[in-house]
Amino acid sequence: MITKAIFPVAGLGTRFLPATKAQPKEMLPVVDKPLIQYAVEEAYDAGIREMIFVTGRHKRPIEDHFDTAFELEYELEQAHKTELLKVVQSIKPDDMECVFVRQPKSLGLGHAVLCGERLVRGEPFAVLLADDLMVGETPVLRQMVEQFEEWRASILAVQEVPYEQTRRYGIVAGTQVNDRLLDVSSIVEKPAPELAPSRLGVAGRYILTPGIFDEIRSQPRGVGNEIQLTDGIASILRREKVFAFQYEGKRYDCGSKEGFLEANVELALKHPQVGGWFKRYLQDLTL
Ligand code: UTP
Repeated sequence: MITKAIFPVAGLGTRFLPATKAQPKEMLPVVDKPLIQYAVEEAYDAGIREMIFVTGRHKRPIEDHFDTAFELEYELEQAHKTELLKVVQSIKPDDMECVFVRQPKSLGLGHAVLCGERLVRGEPFAVLLADDLMVGETPVLRQMVEQFEEWRASILAVQEVPYEQTRRYGIVAGTQVNDRLLDVSSIVEKPAPELAPSRLGVAGRYILTPGIFDEIRSQPRGVGNEIQLTDGIASILRREKVFAFQYEGKRYDCGSKEGFLEANVELALKHPQVGGWFKRYLQDLTL
């Protein structure tokens, strides 16, 4: 059973400046919900109840978002706004626990994951990057937990990426086990297209075994002078099996302006309240 998830939310979000100068990138809303809430809901759906946030400076709004808002709830109750009250209360169901740990410096994703080590307490765990917004008929992390239950080994979410974009991803190579699963033999962080071992890029969802912590700890600084999760995974490959799983669903790279805009447009079109209006608006606009 996977019961814990780490959400690394301590990055600087420089691609979204000035919006991210004083507020976390993960609180940017897609339509009406912050990115981090989509990721937490995905983890909850996959049966995870312990959410571990690795935070940094300016990340207080994330703590507040998953805390009780007594005054707001009281006001909504007094005004008989029951639907809105339900929306507010559903952000943190009673059986969900949120814990916060600080990453003192943005030293990289690998380092951020390492900050969650003590809270993971030696169990396999999930990692979700909230700036990758995943939409699937079966939520993507649930698909991955099912794979973990079958294979009992680390599972990386991967997707085919355009040849010219390999520099943006960790790229994996290995032996095909079935249509969707690859037994990974190598992984490289952000290779140039001509050096990439395949076109399968890692998306922001991982299930990892606790052995990864020792591997990360022993890594020197990697690409971008950061402690890279990819390098830790490359190292654990010598000892343990790691699988790459081509999930069913769509990923929006909300760490980039383009992906964030795509997510807003596509999710707005599907939104029960504003979807119909937004479609007509876009049609009028493009006539
Ligand atoms: P990114 O590579 O998107 O970096 O991190 P970033 O700093 O958030 O954004 P840009 O590139 O400056 O615009 C991927 C994920 O890893 C987390 C980020 O919060 C994001 O969810 N991260 C990254 C950390 O928690 N700590 C780090 O030191 C680096």
